Amino acid sequence: MNILDKFHHWRRKMRWDKQYKSGRWDSLASEKELKRYQQIVDFIKKYGNNNPSILDIGSGDGVLTMRMDEKDYSYFLGLDFSKESIKKAQSRNLPKSNFETADAITYQPEQKFDIIVFNEAFYYFHDTKKQEVLDRMIDALNLNGIIITSIYREGHGCWEFFKESVVLKELDFETVTTDEELRYWKVGVYARK
Ligand SMILES: C[S@@+](CC[C@H](N)C(=O)[O-])C[C@H]1O[C@@H](n2cnc3c(N)ncnc32)[C@H](O)[C@@H]1O
Repeated sequence: MNILDKFHHWRRKMRWDKQYKSGRWDSLASEKELKRYQQIVDFIKKYGNNNPSILDIGSGDGVLTMRMDEKDYSYFLGLDFSKESIKKAQSRNLPKSNFETADAITYQPEQKFDIIVFNEAFYYFHDTKKQEVLDRMIDALNLNGIIITSIYREGHGCWEFFKESVVLKELDFETVTTDEELRYWKVGVYARK
């Protein structure tokens, strides 16, 4: 990223902080979003190892963890570059979970995980960094580990990183629809080839 990209990146981070502080993203915990989280949880149960460790990149304030039963994971690490979202996630005291402020663009996991989730986060990464972030996360997968990605609507400029990857194969793919025509998400599950 050049200096201008870095400035915009910093500004976006500040905007997320402001929005999380003002409650703008409280809607993620609403009924309207429930089906998307449920699809991810179903995929975790169907394709994940037993009692998996989970890394949630761009976890926001921890809604995915809230949607899970603590029996369904051994450890959950959520990270987000918005410290305000992480503060909210930490205040929930969710079981077997940690939440850390970190930027996915530079974040290097300190351990391997069974499941790595990009839940409505991948499209926010700078185009020149998407492949690098994905490669780093593939390296952080345990044997038989999986990546689960959710993207709102069509996800132009995102799905090709998963679908055309030379190292990933697609295990499943669903479109989660709602009663609003334009509110839908695509959710895919990927493993190493
Ligand atoms: C639409 S929210 C989704 C939050 C959460 N995954 C969920 O679905 O409940 C997108 C999140 O991505 C985070 N994000 C965007 N770019 C990021 C980056 N470079 N590193 C870490 N988090 C990032 C934002 O701060 C925000 O919390």
